Amino acid sequence: MSFESKNIENIYAGKVAEKYDFSIPPFFAFWKRKAFNESSLKNGDSVLVFCCGTGLDFPHILEKIGKEGKITGVDFSSEMLKKAKEKIRKEKWENIELIESDITKFTDKLDEEFDIAVCTLGLSIIPEYKIAYNNLLSNVKKHGEIIIGDMQLASGWLACFNPITIYLSKKFGGTQEGHQNSLEIYSMMKKELKEVKKREFFFKAYYYCIGKKK
Ligand SMILES: C[S@@+](CC[C@H](N)C(=O)[O-])C[C@H]1O[C@@H](n2cnc3c(N)ncnc32)[C@H](O)[C@@H]1O
Repeated sequence: MSFESKNIENIYAGKVAEKYDFSIPPFFAFWKRKAFNESSLKNGDSVLVFCCGTGLDFPHILEKIGKEGKITGVDFSSEMLKKAKEKIRKEKWENIELIESDITKFTDKLDEEFDIAVCTLGLSIIPEYKIAYNNLLSNVKKHGEIIIGDMQLASGWLACFNPITIYLSKKFGGTQEGHQNSLEIYSMMKKELKEVKKREFFFKAYYYCIGKKK
């Protein structure tokens, strides 16, 4: 599959959304939770979530920010957002706003700066991932935190597992190039942010990185 955003839009406009929550293995929730526990998320924080999809990050974030905090979720797939809306209604969450938008074109749309910005399983499927990353960064306060969780290319002897993890992520838009781009994202975070922490899981095929805006 080629690495084009139109393909990604088509994937998430199709049947993926309907079964998405059931097709994501439960260990991702464990790693997400670990990342949010390690972050500085606290009661009352405002959190921007890029590529929020069906909202699988929301319960973990809400646990930290409470009712005083607020989440703004952005995604370009109306099908995925429909699922997120159903969840919000069912759980009676009142502090979540959803915006349907392409995050690579998402500039100057918000009139506030967020305490924390999050993107999980998103940037590695976006061809213009650097633009998306910069848009995420530009909507966070000075000293605010960025949390990225994603698939990546493993190196060393673990690289032998790369074809398997890329194959498994293919139906969600995963590609070799996208997994490679995650390494570049980490380099950018290490260079541009402070107090950067990276953790790796699943034979180094998944990572999360947390850093603060200087
Ligand atoms: C693998 S899902 C991840 C959803 C969620 N973050 C999670 O961890 O379950 C990727 C999401 O990114 C969204 N996405 C991909 N490219 C995007 C873009 N350019 N702008 C906005 N959303 C995008 C898709 O619509 C999809 O909902």
